[in-house]
Amino acid sequence: MRGRRLRNFWIFSLLVLVSAAGWFALYSLACYRTEGNSQSPLKKTAPVQTPQYCREKTVGNILKVYSQDWIKQKGYITLLRSELNSKCNGVDKAIVTQTNTAMGSNITYDAEKRIVKVTPKLFDTFVKDSPFINKTFKTCSVVGNGGILANSSCGEEIDSAQFVIRCNLAPVGSGYRRDVGTKTNLVTSNPSILLYKFGSLMELRRPFVERLGTFGDSLVLFPTFSYGQNTAVSLRALYTVQDFGSPARPVFMNPEYMRSLARFWKTRGLKKRLSTGMMMASLALELCDEVHLYGFWPYPQHPRDCRSLNNHYYDDMKAKSVHAMPVEFDQLVQFHNQGVVRLHLEECTPRPKQSHLPFFLHWWCS
Ligand code: CDP
Repeated sequence: MRGRRLRNFWIFSLLVLVSAAGWFALYSLACYRTEGNSQSPLKKTAPVQTPQYCREKTVGNILKVYSQDWIKQKGYITLLRSELNSKCNGVDKAIVTQTNTAMGSNITYDAEKRIVKVTPKLFDTFVKDSPFINKTFKTCSVVGNGGILANSSCGEEIDSAQFVIRCNLAPVGSGYRRDVGTKTNLVTSNPSILLYKFGSLMELRRPFVERLGTFGDSLVLFPTFSYGQNTAVSLRALYTVQDFGSPARPVFMNPEYMRSLARFWKTRGLKKRLSTGMMMASLALELCDEVHLYGFWPYPQHPRDCRSLNNHYYDDMKAKSVHAMPVEFDQLVQFHNQGVVRLHLEECTPRPKQSHLPFFLHWWCS
C-alpha cells in the first residue's frame, strides 16, 4: 500500500516536471518569436558592408564616416537653425505671401535677370501668410529622388515622420509605397516636369490633377520666379488646381529666399545652383528638430553591394549639370557626422507588429 503511494507520488512528480519543462520550452519559443518583432522602429539592418572595389573610391570614404553610430547633437542643430533663420528666414520668407510681398512691388527672379510687377491679379494668387509661422516639427523626412530608394523598404519609416517633404512630384503610388511611403506635407514641382510630363498644361490637364491627387492636400511648391518660363506654367498649375477643385495647395517659392540660401551655402563651398533636395533640406533644418534624409545618394552604385543604380527610384533621367550634387552630398555627410541631420543609406526594417502574447508572457519575456 505504502509502496504504491510512493510510486504514484514519483509518477505525479515526474508528470509535473515534464509539463513544467514543456511550458518552459513553449514560453521560451514564444519569447524568441516576439523578440524578432520588438526592435525599435528605426533600428536598421546589418551595418553597410563595403566590397573591396567600392572601398577604394570616394564612396569608401563617405561610408567610413557613415558607418559610425549616429548621435543627435542638439547644440549643433540649434546653432545651424538659428544661423539659417537669421540669414535666410525660411519660416517667413520661403514662400511668396501677401504679407511678405506687397501689391505694386517688384519681384526679382533668382536665376536670370528679370523683374515682374505684382499686379492685383498676381497678388491674388499668393497665399495670405506663410504656412510655417509658429510651426516646428519633432521629426521630418526629406525625400530625395535617388535610385538608392528602390527596394529600400523605407516607406513606413519615411511616413512615420511628423512632416514629410518630397521633391518634384515624384511618384508615391502603389508600386512605390513600400519604398518611399505616401505621406506628403510639402512637395516641390519643378517646371521641367510640367513642361515635359504634363505638356506645359496646354493640353489635357487631368493627368496632372491625378498626379497631384496622390499627394492629398499637401503644399505644392513651384519655383515660379526663378526663370521667366516658370511663371506662366506655374500660374496655369494654380488655375488647374482651382478649376478641378483639387485639395492640393499651390504656393510659390520666394526668389529672395533662394538668393539668401545660395549666399548662405556659397560661404560653405557650394557655388553651383542648389538642387531641390538641398533647398528642402535647408528649409527642414529651420522647421524640424530632427531631419531625416532619404533618397540622397548621387552615385551610380549602391553603397552596400555596389550594384548599379538608376539616377531616380522611378526612372533613369540623368541629373542636370547646373547642380553639384556630390559636393552638396559631402556637406550632408558632414552634417550626418556632426549629428545635425540623419542620412539614411541602408534598407529599413519594417515596424514591429503588435504582439498577441497574453500579459503573463510579456512579463516572462521581459
Ligand atoms: O530638380 P533636381 O534635379 O534638383 O532633383 P531630382 O532629380 O528630381 O531629385 C530631387 C533631389 O534628390 C535632388 O535635388 C537631390 O538633392 C536628390 N538626389 C540625390 O541626392 N541623388 C540622386 N541620384 C538623385 C536625386
